[in-house]
Amino acid sequence: MTTTTYAVLSEGLHKRYGEVHALRGLDLAVPEGTVCGVLGPNGAGKTTAVRVLTTLTAPDAGSARVAGCDVVRDPAGVRGRIAVTGQYAAVDGDLTGAENLRLFARLLRAPRARADELLERFELAGAAGRPVRGWSGGMRRRLDLAVSLIVPPRVLFLDEPTTGLDPHSRNGIWDTVRALAHQGTTVLLTTQYLEEADRLADEIVLVDDGRAAHRGSPAELKALIGGWAEVVVADPARLADAAALLDRLTGSVPVLDADRQTVGALTTDPTLTLPRLVRAADAAGVPLLDAALRPPTLDAVFLRLTGRSPASPTGPQEVPA
Ligand SMILES: Nc1ncnc2c1ncn2[C@@H]1O[C@H](COP(=O)(O)OP(=O)(O)O)[C@@H](O)[C@H]1O
Ligand SMILES: [Mg+2]
Repeated sequence: MTTTTYAVLSEGLHKRYGEVHALRGLDLAVPEGTVCGVLGPNGAGKTTAVRVLTTLTAPDAGSARVAGCDVVRDPAGVRGRIAVTGQYAAVDGDLTGAENLRLFARLLRAPRARADELLERFELAGAAGRPVRGWSGGMRRRLDLAVSLIVPPRVLFLDEPTTGLDPHSRNGIWDTVRALAHQGTTVLLTTQYLEEADRLADEIVLVDDGRAAHRGSPAELKALIGGWAEVVVADPARLADAAALLDRLTGSVPVLDADRQTVGALTTDPTLTLPRLVRAADAAGVPLLDAALRPPTLDAVFLRLTGRSPASPTGPQEVPA
C-alpha cells in the first residue's frame, strides 16, 4: 500500500478583509512532486490563498500544512521550505540583473556561482549587466523566478506567473515550470488562463468565490466542458449541410451565422480532431474555407460547471512596466 504525501494540504480556509469574504472554506490537497493549477477569474481568492499558504497572512479559520509544516504554528518552517513568485516582480529596478541575483544569493548564503548559473539558465546572461528598470516584463518575470530558485524550494508558489506576458515569454516560463516539476519540485500556480492550467497542471482546481468549485485532471475538465468546433463554408448555400454535419459529429445544437458563412457547435468528444472535422466535410462534399477547434474560454468553463458567469469577470490584468 502506498500513502500519498501532500506538499500542500488545506482544510476549510477562511479569510475576510472587512466585508469581503475572500476565502470561504478552501480545501486543497497537492501531492508531493505534482503541479496544481488553481484556476479562477479575478477576485476568486487565488492571491489570498497563496498569501495564506506562504504565511504572508494568517487565515481566520481552517488549517493548512505546507511541506509538512503548519502555516500558523510553524511559519518559519514553511518559509524555509518554499519559494514564492508573485504577479509583480519583486526585484530592485535600480540594480542590474546580476547584482539582484548576487544580492539574494548572499542573503540566502548561496554560492555566487549559483547566481551566474541561474542567469545562464534563464537566458538573462546577455542583459545581466543592465539595470532591471529597462528590462521587458518577461525578462523581469524570469529574473524573479530565478531569484526564487537560488535555494531550490520543496514547494514553489507562482501567482499568475504569465499574466500580461507575450507568448514567447509565457512559453519560457512554462518550460521552466515543467523542468522544475520534472526534477520533483511541487508547484502550486494560480492562473486565469485555462490553457496554462491545461499545459502545466496535473490537477486543476477551479476556484470560484473563495472555494473550490471543481477539481480534476486537465483531461477530466476538458471532457466535462469540451470545446467549440467551427467551420466556414465556401458556398453560403451549403450552410445547412455544414450544420447537419456538425450536428452529427458533435451531438449538440449547431449555431449558424449566415453573414460569416460560419456554423459552430459545442463538442465534448475527445476524438473529434481538426483532421477528422475536415475529412468529414470533404466526405460530405461540403467545401470549407476554414475550420477550427477551439478550447472553451474561462467564462464558458464557469458557465458549464457553475451554471453562471464568474463572480467578478474582468479581463487579464496589465502588468506595470
Ligand atoms: N488586502 C485586501 N483588502 C481588502 N480586500 C482584499 C484584499 N486582498 C484581496 N481582497 C479582496 O478579496 C477578494 C479576493 O482577492 P484575491 O485573492 O486577490 O483574488 P484573485 O487573486 O483571485 O484575483 C477580492 O474581492 C479582493 O478585492
Ligand atoms: Mg491575484
